[in-house]
Amino acid sequence: MAVKHICCIGAGYVGGPTMAVIAQKCPDIKVTVVDINEKRIAAWNHEDLSKLPVYEPGLDEVVKEARGRNLFFSTEVDKAIEEAEMIFISVNTPTKTYGKGKGMAADLKYIELCARQIARVAKSDKIVVEKSTLPVRTASAIKSILENTGNNVNFQILSNPEFLAEGTAIQDLHAPDRVLIGGETSAEGERAIQELVDVYSQWVPKENILTTNVWSSELSKLTANAFLAQRVSSINALSELCEKTGADVNEVAKAIGMDSRIGPKFLKSSVGFGGSCFQKDILNLVYIAKTYGLNEVADYWEQVIIMNDHQKRRFANNIVSTLYNTVSGKKIAFLGWAFKKDTNDTRESAAIYVADDLLNEQAQIAAYDPKVEEEQMYADLDYLNTRSADENRQGLSVYRDPYEACKDAHAVAVLTEWEEFKEYDWKRIYDNMQKPAFVFDGRGILDKKLLNNLGFVYYRIGEGAQEAMEVQASH
Ligand code: NAD
Ligand code: UDX
Repeated sequence: MAVKHICCIGAGYVGGPTMAVIAQKCPDIKVTVVDINEKRIAAWNHEDLSKLPVYEPGLDEVVKEARGRNLFFSTEVDKAIEEAEMIFISVNTPTKTYGKGKGMAADLKYIELCARQIARVAKSDKIVVEKSTLPVRTASAIKSILENTGNNVNFQILSNPEFLAEGTAIQDLHAPDRVLIGGETSAEGERAIQELVDVYSQWVPKENILTTNVWSSELSKLTANAFLAQRVSSINALSELCEKTGADVNEVAKAIGMDSRIGPKFLKSSVGFGGSCFQKDILNLVYIAKTYGLNEVADYWEQVIIMNDHQKRRFANNIVSTLYNTVSGKKIAFLGWAFKKDTNDTRESAAIYVADDLLNEQAQIAAYDPKVEEEQMYADLDYLNTRSADENRQGLSVYRDPYEACKDAHAVAVLTEWEEFKEYDWKRIYDNMQKPAFVFDGRGILDKKLLNNLGFVYYRIGEGAQEAMEVQASH
């Protein structure tokens, strides 16, 4: 039986783009993406494609092609569940903020609600696909809920974690390194796996579709994110040593990356990794390890987070100490607020934490990001609960023009690696700033020579401060 109707619960950064691509590549399958958030669904249905709730290069084109043909966005969750033979669960699984496992474990309440809703509504057999990132062995909890509360229909649970990265989601979905599908080893399990393989094999080469048991699939997702984040923390740890010794972290990264066993990717030193996944998934891994009493395993992975927190904090500290130990009342321009370029997502962005530290030092922050809305920046700061909402609005001003943001600033801090920052008229920025004019490049993207020649005192993450000190002394 070939799948004809797919339902996806959760129209977020994963559900939206993933289903848009499935619909684009499988015109014979009707794909309905549902969400309880009416505003989000309305935005997915917006006629003006620039108003889609997720910004991803190329997403508008995919939605344009499939929406209304075989791709639908709706708030009618029950109807879509009933109609579908295959149901993806792609709801959020944030870190728990209460009770047992607070600050570490994944909060599975949204997953459980989905399972109960599917059990209540389903009148025919369903394949339920875990698309959300889940702790290993969650499939057994979902199965237990479905089988104990359902209408005596058969359910097969598959794990199909998503490996897309934001900013390159469409590219990643069109040509994934691999698609991972975990399922039961029984005959029914294998049939369900095959149904999902048949969907993906419409555009993904068979050799890139990997099938495993459910537990390996669930754990592989947490492991992949832990390894990726570990690489960033490893290079960031060395960036601090580079700054002390006069080594250049970019040169070190290039030198080690040419070793084919290490590889060149994911070695870009930064102000710290952000995003909705890395921290949450590692904390989840740490929690699971602790649950099994594996304290050494837990401590090993927790260090990746400790290092990342240190990197964000030391970036802010360096700004304060370089600006003669005080930023009180000084305007500091932030270029970028998103956690990486080409996304409007700000979850766990390093910019939020650097801003928070500098606001504690009474700085006046002037932020500019090409895709992040003003309300989002305030919401991000308010969420930390460090100070009142009024104080956050007094300390942070949001600009729609980068030159205005930098005007009269004592320092510019680059928090996101947006391409457009490289193209700015840096002479114009320099002329309008307080002197000495400082630039703290937390992404290592600007042209150091050009900036130095213009007169800036330029600090790049992971580069020996010695040279910057010399430049500073000569001004
Ligand atoms: P998101 O917060 O953007 O979207 C989740 C959506 O689910 C929200 O719109 C929410 O309203 C909806 N929702 C929650 N409960 C619901 C319910 N009971 N019924 C209907 N809708 C409901 O989250 P996201 O970034 O898309 O992440 C989803 C999952 O995918 C998470 O487990 C995450 O770890 C994983 N993941 C995310 C990424 C990424 O880059 N963002 C990549 C890979 C995996
Ligand atoms: C990540 C994983 O890459 C993806 O496979 C998974 O599905 C979801 O989590 P994402 O968080 O969207 O994707 O972006 P990613 O490109 O991994 O970047 C995460 C953070 O690390 C960003 O803040 C980025 O700027 C930072 N980073 C990444 C670095 O600082 N240096 C690098 O070399 C790479």
